[in-house]
Amino acid sequence: MDKIASRVNQFYEQYPYPSLPIRTERDLIKKLHANVMSRILATAELEQGSLSGKDILDAGCGTGEKACYFSYYGANVTAFDLCRASLGKAQELAGKFNLRVDFSRCDIAEFRPGKKFDHVFCLGALHHTKYPYTNFKALSGLCKPGGTITIGLYNRYGRLTHRATRMWIGLRAGNDFGKRMAYVERSVYGRRMRSTHEIAYVADKYVHPHESYHTVGEVLDWFDRDGFTFMGSHPHIGKGKIGAFMAQLKWLARGNGFFIISGMKD
Ligand SMILES: C[S@@+](CC[C@H](N)C(=O)[O-])C[C@H]1O[C@@H](n2cnc3c(N)ncnc32)[C@H](O)[C@@H]1O
Repeated sequence: MDKIASRVNQFYEQYPYPSLPIRTERDLIKKLHANVMSRILATAELEQGSLSGKDILDAGCGTGEKACYFSYYGANVTAFDLCRASLGKAQELAGKFNLRVDFSRCDIAEFRPGKKFDHVFCLGALHHTKYPYTNFKALSGLCKPGGTITIGLYNRYGRLTHRATRMWIGLRAGNDFGKRMAYVERSVYGRRMRSTHEIAYVADKYVHPHESYHTVGEVLDWFDRDGFTFMGSHPHIGKGKIGAFMAQLKWLARGNGFFIISGMKD
């Protein structure tokens, strides 16, 4: 594990993400679908009904909500993460709903499963690694021909003002996670965070020790280089690199810092 992965791991051991409050089957299925999964699946032209029997990889699965969702719909799910605390929660969640997911602890840079997948998901993890493209390439090699890859990344334009806030927090509160969190609660929110999910969300946003930023054009280049055809994104982007650039200007104005993008392996 390199130094960045080690520091990122320390962070998530303290703040496992996303730690969603999933108490009932309705929370896992209806709420998760409405809040995030419908948008994620749409980028790869997938629906709940198309998941059954598919081999799915969730790389950097965090606390496992998405992996459990895939499993609920009958997919054969493999999921891994660096963070033991997150995996503990993920396993608990799967157990609660009697779902089978092959969870393991691994660094993306070292993951060699010896099999390929119909759908590879890696949401919000590559930008916390030292070599995002190298890790994308490794994951893309795990996709079957005709399979899809879906990645979620911070956007270079949309996250610009947020980067300034993060720098300010660094100047005022330093690098200690607890001090940064206390500063954010006091100075950004003016109150203590109320739930485990709220703590996880706010820490991920303001306290995180390492993030990188990416443009849509850059990811389209990754797709080209590794034999993927662009399928869709959230938020939506216009046609070609000019359309993507124009869309990102809107994201800059709206502070839309995260995008999801899918490609199909040729
Ligand atoms: C923002 S969370 C996203 C969790 C989940 N994918 C989701 O969408 O809810 C990022 C996750 O990536 C994991 N991660 C970061 N670097 C990693 C690495 N090098 N190898 C494996 N997992 C990593 C973290 O431990 C964390 O759980």
